[in-house]
Amino acid sequence: MGKKAGVLFFLAGILFCGNVWAEAPETPVLSDSQCIICHKEQPATIAAHGAKHKTEVGCVDCHTEHPPAGQNAVPECGMCHSNKPHYELENCGSCHSDTHAPMNLKIEGDVTGPCLTCHEKEGKQLKAHPSAHTDVACSECHVKHRFIPDCMECHTKHTEDMNLESCLACHPVHTPLEITYGDDTASHYCTSCHEDAGTLLKNNNTKHKDLSCVYCHRVKHKTVPSCVSCKIPHGKPHPAKMLEKFPECGQCHGIAHNIQK
Ligand code: HEC
Ligand code: HEC
Ligand code: HEC
Ligand code: HEC
Ligand code: HEC
Ligand code: HEC
Ligand code: HEC
Ligand code: HEC
Ligand code: HEC
Ligand code: HEC
Ligand code: HEC
Repeated sequence: MGKKAGVLFFLAGILFCGNVWAEAPETPVLSDSQCIICHKEQPATIAAHGAKHKTEVGCVDCHTEHPPAGQNAVPECGMCHSNKPHYELENCGSCHSDTHAPMNLKIEGDVTGPCLTCHEKEGKQLKAHPSAHTDVACSECHVKHRFIPDCMECHTKHTEDMNLESCLACHPVHTPLEITYGDDTASHYCTSCHEDAGTLLKNNNTKHKDLSCVYCHRVKHKTVPSCVSCKIPHGKPHPAKMLEKFPECGQCHGIAHNIQK
């Protein structure tokens, strides 16, 4: 018999004798350093991935009893974690699949509600601005905690030269239909959908020809400017009397993409 096994039997003896003579006052008290004699796996996991379950608590803080003397060997999380919405969730182990590696998360299936116990803001945004993303589970995009997906995993680009950054410049991902854009947005992004407007503007030779789309259609998608809002260079270039009679500039000048004189 090896030396190790000898120690094992000795300890097991102490333990089980404690049970046989349950009345005996000297029920053995175990300490953390002894567990490893019989349990290799858990101490190894804690050493490698224990996180705060390694630094803030020890084995016997959680395992306050041990069979056969005590049957409640496995602790409830609520013994130490309470009073936060996150700790009201059910089945902690579905995500924290090994208490000895508490931060090794397993996020499986469609998960949304539990995320909201910490990320209330994103949940509210998705609800307040209904879009197709409101019906996509958080975990369909964030397949791992803290992972940021690329739009192109699920969508095609409007133009070849776009990347995640350009998508986000127009579509805030949790409110994707609240489309806004900067004053440096390239016109070919717009003409990928508005081909006719682009062609018309390109093929005329007025002073509007070289303006970018967003120079006039500012900030928010579908904004249509009034001609006079462009103070420089023109403002109101005609006598008030005349504009009273012909309130629409377009009555004489046609469409802004191809002004007539
Ligand atoms: C002498 C060997 C020995 C030592 C030392 C020992 N254990 Fe155990 N432990 C066992 C055996 C054997 C079982 C299985 C008992 C059973 O299923 O009835 C067990 C079972 C357990 C269980 C599972 C109980 C359950 O209900 O599933 C836990 C938890 C546990 N031990 C924790 C510890 C901790 C923590 C320590 C150190 C403080 C420790 N053990 C020290 C032998 C040991
Ligand atoms: C933060 C609390 C906590 C700490 C610290 C902790 N455990 Fe556990 N342990 C648990 C829980 C909870 C379980 C039940 C299974 C699970 O959820 O991972 C468990 C299960 C076990 C089991 C039974 C495994 C099985 O499959 O039945 C053993 C043995 C064990 N722990 C030993 C240890 C040892 C040894 C240490 C110290 C190195 C330790 N534990 C530290 C909470 C803890
Ligand atoms: C004996 C007390 C105790 C028990 C039981 C316990 N924990 Fe903990 N746990 C702590 C302490 C202390 C911390 C560090 C402080 C904090 O984050 O609240 C901690 C931290 C954590 C962390 C964060 C780890 C890190 O490094 O940031 C997670 C996740 C966690 N616990 C999950 C669980 C789960 C799930 C259970 C039940 C299976 C559980 N705990 C049971 C005491 C406990
Ligand atoms: C749907 C998955 C999921 C479930 C279920 C879950 N957690 Fe968590 N938990 C997480 C995520 C994600 C984090 C954040 C990890 C990070 O910060 O990287 C976390 C963090 C923690 C933390 C550390 C941070 C903090 O705010 O305290 C503790 C402790 C914790 N969980 C305990 C629990 C307990 C106890 C339960 C059950 C009542 C539970 N968790 C259920 C996913 C889950
Ligand atoms: C227990 C609290 C908790 C839970 C539950 C939780 N998170 Fe987190 N999450 C955090 C913390 C803490 C951070 C880091 C925040 C920071 O760095 O400012 C974070 C960061 C993130 C990030 C940002 C990563 C980055 O690079 O900015 C994403 C995305 C995320 N979580 C998604 C989720 C999803 C999806 C879920 C549900 C599956 C979830 N979280 C559940 C606490 C949690
Ligand atoms: C359609 C995919 C998608 C869905 C659904 C989604 N997210 Fe995100 N989320 C992203 C992307 C992409 C980013 C990066 C955004 C950025 O950098 O502006 C992000 C960023 C985050 C961040 C970091 C925010 C920050 O300010 O750093 C958190 C936290 C987060 N998401 C949580 C959630 C939660 C919680 C849900 C579910 C209620 C959710 N997300 C649903 C794609 C998604
Ligand atoms: C995990 C898959 C997934 C990812 C990643 C994703 N989406 Fe979506 N998105 C969808 C689904 C599903 C729909 C609804 C069907 C469709 O239009 O393809 C949708 C619809 C949309 C819509 C139309 C919304 C509506 O209500 O009509 C926009 C805009 C959009 N996504 C933008 C983005 C942007 C921008 C990103 C990256 C920041 C992104 N999506 C990342 C799954 C995803
Ligand atoms: C210049 C701003 C802009 C950029 C950059 C942009 N989009 Fe869009 N996107 C729009 C507009 C405007 C719509 C049409 C919204 C409507 O129908 O009201 C749209 C619609 C969508 C839709 C809905 C389905 C469709 O094709 O009509 C999806 C999905 C989408 N965009 C994904 C993306 C992705 C992915 C990227 C990055 C590769 C991206 N968008 C970059 C402005 C932009
Ligand atoms: C993904 C396709 C897409 C992109 C990219 C896109 N749009 Fe649109 N746009 C649309 C759709 C769809 C409509 C609604 C058409 C309708 O209602 O007939 C629209 C409508 C408009 C309208 C008309 C509003 C009205 O009241 O008639 C303007 C102006 C406009 N877009 C400007 C732009 C500008 C400027 C850009 C570039 C920053 C752009 N669009 C990019 C799809 C797009
Ligand atoms: C000089 C300012 C100006 C520029 C530059 C401009 N627009 Fe317009 N756009 C307007 C005005 C004003 C209207 C409203 C119709 C009118 O009165 O001419 C309009 C109408 C539209 C409409 C809705 C009606 C239609 O023709 O379908 C779309 C879409 C549109 N513009 C897209 C674009 C795109 C795409 C570009 C860039 C290629 C662009 N615009 C450049 C001023 C401008
Ligand atoms: C009743 C017809 C009519 C109406 C309505 C009208 N204009 Fe004019 N506009 C003209 C004529 C005619 C000219 C002179 C053309 C020329 O000299 O080549 C002109 C000239 C201009 C010029 C100078 C062009 C240049 O090349 O220097 C601008 C700018 C202008 N108009 C803007 C507007 C605006 C803005 C409105 C609406 C508030 C408007 N116009 C309404 C008929 C009209």
